[in-house]
Amino acid sequence: MDLRAAKAQFRAEMKALRAELSPAAHEQQAAQAASVLLSLPQWSVARVVCLYASFKHELGTHRLLQTALGEGKVLVLPRARPDGTLSLHEVSDLSSLTSSHLGILEPAPDAPRRDVPEVDLFLVPGLAFAADGHRLGYGAGFYDRLLNQAKPTAFTVGYGFEFQVAPEVPVESHDYCLHAIVTPAGVVPKVSR
Ligand SMILES: Nc1ncnc2c1ncn2[C@@H]1O[C@H](COP(=O)(O)OP(=O)(O)OP(=O)(O)O)[C@@H](O)[C@H]1O
Ligand SMILES: [Mg+2]
Repeated sequence: MDLRAAKAQFRAEMKALRAELSPAAHEQQAAQAASVLLSLPQWSVARVVCLYASFKHELGTHRLLQTALGEGKVLVLPRARPDGTLSLHEVSDLSSLTSSHLGILEPAPDAPRRDVPEVDLFLVPGLAFAADGHRLGYGAGFYDRLLNQAKPTAFTVGYGFEFQVAPEVPVESHDYCLHAIVTPAGVVPKVSR
């Protein structure tokens, strides 16, 4: 099977597994994952954090958005653009987010822009992650393009359920490799930087 077909099959399997979780399990796992992320030293020292608003069956991120604002961090969220890039915007009020055509909550187009190298920590969605940090996203390459512009000292962390971490994921040469993955069960691999 070629890499593109292997990626497509993996994506479908992971979407099906996520959809099987009950709402109560979703809620409980989101709370646990948040406590793992919020106890990382890289979270504590980050001044500018790029998070995302979870949608559908993704591991919930809403309490992280609240916490970032509550802790006085600069909260940045991406907006998907038709050219395949993500623009970053500062958000100071979660009620200002608007739903994209895909149903994802995003900053309003006129929210203040932030540059990628300003971000200290990126929380990265995905369908599957490998223990070495490789990631399988939704298939548009948005995060591969974004993270290649991150400053060298930025911390990039994938976020998902424990079953989304696989021994290996299919990777192509353009795929970005994350520093760590946070799941409700902990950090993979153990954070050393
Ligand atoms: N840095 C890049 N520059 C140009 N094209 C890229 C880049 N990164 C990825 N692409 C293109 O984007 C497409 C999708 O990439 P890929 O299958 O890795 O998506 P993904 O990582 O699952 O998606 P996403 O990051 O949006 O969740 C591929 O056709 C790939 O060639
Ligand atoms: Mg990719």
